[in-house]
Amino acid sequence: MTVRDNKVFFGDMSANKLTEQFGSPLYVYEYDTIVRQYNRLQEAFKNADTLIYYACKANANIEILKIFNELGAGIDAVSPGEVFLALRAGFEPERILLTGTNLTEEDIRYAVDNNVPVNIDNLTMLKEYGSLFAGKEVSIRLNPDIRAGAHMYLETGHRDAKFGILKNDLSRLIALLNKVDAKLVGLHQHIGSDITEIEPILSGLDFMLSLAKEIATIRFIDIGGGYKVKYYADDSETDVMELGRKVSERFNTFCHDNNRQLKLIIEPGKYLVSEAGYLLTTVQSVKRNYNKIIVGTDTGMNHLIRPALYHAYHEIVHASRFEGETEKVNIVGNICESADVLGKNRVLTRSKRGDVLCIKNAGSYGYSMASMYNARLLPPEILIKDGTARSIRRRQTFEDLLSTY
Ligand SMILES: Cc1ncc(COP(=O)(O)O)c(C=O)c1O
Repeated sequence: MTVRDNKVFFGDMSANKLTEQFGSPLYVYEYDTIVRQYNRLQEAFKNADTLIYYACKANANIEILKIFNELGAGIDAVSPGEVFLALRAGFEPERILLTGTNLTEEDIRYAVDNNVPVNIDNLTMLKEYGSLFAGKEVSIRLNPDIRAGAHMYLETGHRDAKFGILKNDLSRLIALLNKVDAKLVGLHQHIGSDITEIEPILSGLDFMLSLAKEIATIRFIDIGGGYKVKYYADDSETDVMELGRKVSERFNTFCHDNNRQLKLIIEPGKYLVSEAGYLLTTVQSVKRNYNKIIVGTDTGMNHLIRPALYHAYHEIVHASRFEGETEKVNIVGNICESADVLGKNRVLTRSKRGDVLCIKNAGSYGYSMASMYNARLLPPEILIKDGTARSIRRRQTFEDLLSTY
């Protein structure tokens, strides 16, 4: 995104021109930003034998997946549907890891039949996996009992979370591993999202390494994702260089001291795509109420649920007149819910019907969490590469509302 002539531009087209051509609302992704973020992580973890598995729940558009395949990434999938998309995007099955929660036998069979490794979340499933797929390799998701993450819904590695095998189940795990006919090749954790401190991730790593020491068949350690990006200029972010340095150092020391050759896997989602994405929306009304000015738009919590779900902050800028006389407003959507607020108390250039606004950090958990609530249609997605825009998903039509009947 750049600002020229007081307007927001993507490549050589203004936001206004893009919405004229592709319609509004509109998701816009910048190829260069995705590549930049990927390269940053590669650089940060270059001292260890590291694989980057893109957590595609963040944005599973197949054209985005293809970019990561070209970059050499693997895929962290959480459902058979994501496995399907990753395979269709061209990923080798062995570069995909299915880490589901409460997977059915059918879900697991889909992965196994397609030679995609499965990461098991609980002991019941591990037992079943051993009897269904005797002799097959498997990895397990551990819950290291660590609180990390920016919101209670973003914490996934503590004792009250539904994810992973807890420390107090370790003796049962070891007993089961001796009985079950499955070869344990990997240990995994994902303790939360928007984590800025490095210590919790290192503690989880230590926990996994202590277990790996006892299990000779372990080939990889997966420390999960959860690295935070800035949502506004002075916001905090994960220092991925320091994270990479510290994790690599600890990991390499373990491998050296124990004469092991392990692979390190990281599973970032947001870090790779959040800043690459924008949601363009058009102002429909401006209400000057008693003590609030309410700017109404043609998108809402159906297209970007993060503000309503996590009270997440997404910076919103005026794309038609970047600077001008400002006022404090609430920016809301077109969904019949009071929670349908995209930004509260924002200082924004005075708006009028037809102006285009640009919501930032919409590349992760935007479209992928979008719904057709209120029978509102899903917007198109476009990719900006080499300065030009290309459609990578069409806008839905009313016929899509009938397509599953
Ligand atoms: C298993 C797993 N790995 C990785 C991620 C990626 O998290 P983030 O997008 O915060 O990096 C998630 C997100 O919930 C996850 O559930």
